[in-house]
Amino acid sequence: MNVLVTGGCGFIGSHLVREALKLTDIQRVVNLDALTYSGNIQNLSDILDERYDFVHGSINDYELVSSILSEYKIDNIIHLAAESHVDRSIDSVSPFIKTNIDGTRVILENLRVERNRENNINLIHVSTDEVYGTLGPQDTPFTEESPISPMNPYASTKASSDLLVQAFVNTYGISAIITRCSNNYGPNQFPEKLIPLMTLNAIEGKPLPIYGDGKQIRDWIHVSDHVRGIISSMFGFIDNKLTPGEVINFGAANEMENIEIVRGILGITGASDDLVKYVKDRPGHDRRYAMGYEKAEMKLEWRPEKNWADGLKETVNWYIEQKYWVESIRTGEYLNWIENQYGN
Ligand code: NAD
Ligand code: DAU
Repeated sequence: MNVLVTGGCGFIGSHLVREALKLTDIQRVVNLDALTYSGNIQNLSDILDERYDFVHGSINDYELVSSILSEYKIDNIIHLAAESHVDRSIDSVSPFIKTNIDGTRVILENLRVERNRENNINLIHVSTDEVYGTLGPQDTPFTEESPISPMNPYASTKASSDLLVQAFVNTYGISAIITRCSNNYGPNQFPEKLIPLMTLNAIEGKPLPIYGDGKQIRDWIHVSDHVRGIISSMFGFIDNKLTPGEVINFGAANEMENIEIVRGILGITGASDDLVKYVKDRPGHDRRYAMGYEKAEMKLEWRPEKNWADGLKETVNWYIEQKYWVESIRTGEYLNWIENQYGN
């Protein structure tokens, strides 16, 4: 089994590569990553396994993807590469269309060509709960049957890529499934996202910028549970437990308001409550996400395992201890983003 992971130097991708090498007897894991601002080669610098190969390049490069598929005899692709930050998509949509939609198209076109050569490569397309839009306080959690109703540019590009995947399954018979997960947290997350941003600001005595009233709800899942789910989906697909075009949700039944998360971080770091600063709301801010994951429990015998209190504490402590990692990602690009987003 030779697996191509796209976006393996990012937050979730790096955990996935590590776990895939640890938990399975996959012969080869090839990581294709463009090393954009959120991709960090150091996230995998400890991997010395000879089954692992890194290719620096873009999923938008048709010839490169094609040559990887044939050179490494890839039989499964786990596709994570994406522009992933909602606020950046609100600032500038174009990179999201290029990577999330057109980059996915390039992978799909390659799979179509391979299929015409009678080479059926499986695609595990990693998507998000954001494609379902937003929930009211009394609504039941999203299921795989919930309508697609994205509310921000990032979510729209992920929904578009999901629809393209389903269209390629239906039209060209390619072999693909879609996984959708709620908000991940854990080590190695780029500190533009809520938990690492608030943690670093708390440690450094900087303001903690809460958008709007801070009562938006997310269903937080530890990254280790998500990557276990993705790996189970791949094996489930190979074992015909999932059929082409099928969607599978992952979540943790761990709904929390943003302000509760920030209070948790203040408690662990011992920083002052006075750092909390309510700022202008995110435009089009989704109020609540919650994922129903009964299908994953039934079909894959998967369930989330990480306890939230332990997971948050370990995560916050990881950022406190990894000073070198933190400093290395604080490049000009990151500092410009922080200034642009929070300058005032
Ligand atoms: P991330 O931003 O940390 O990592 C993205 C990775 O993709 C980086 O390594 C980057 O260099 C790489 N990349 C970007 N453009 C590329 C291109 N054109 N070619 C090759 N590589 C490219 O993102 P993440 O949080 O790890 O998310 C990974 C995937 O999981 C995304 O598809 C995202 O939509 C999905 N997802 C994320 C979450 C979450 O909470 N973070 C939840 C559900 C789903
Ligand atoms: O739900 C899955 C999605 O979760 C993934 O698909 C995305 O890739 C990932 O970025 C994440 O999206 P969110 O927008 O939910 O995550 P973020 O960490 O940016 O924000 C979480 C909540 O915290 C959201 O309600 C906005 C709020 N927030 C965020 C930041 C960065 C603040 O209040 N202040 C902030 O400075």
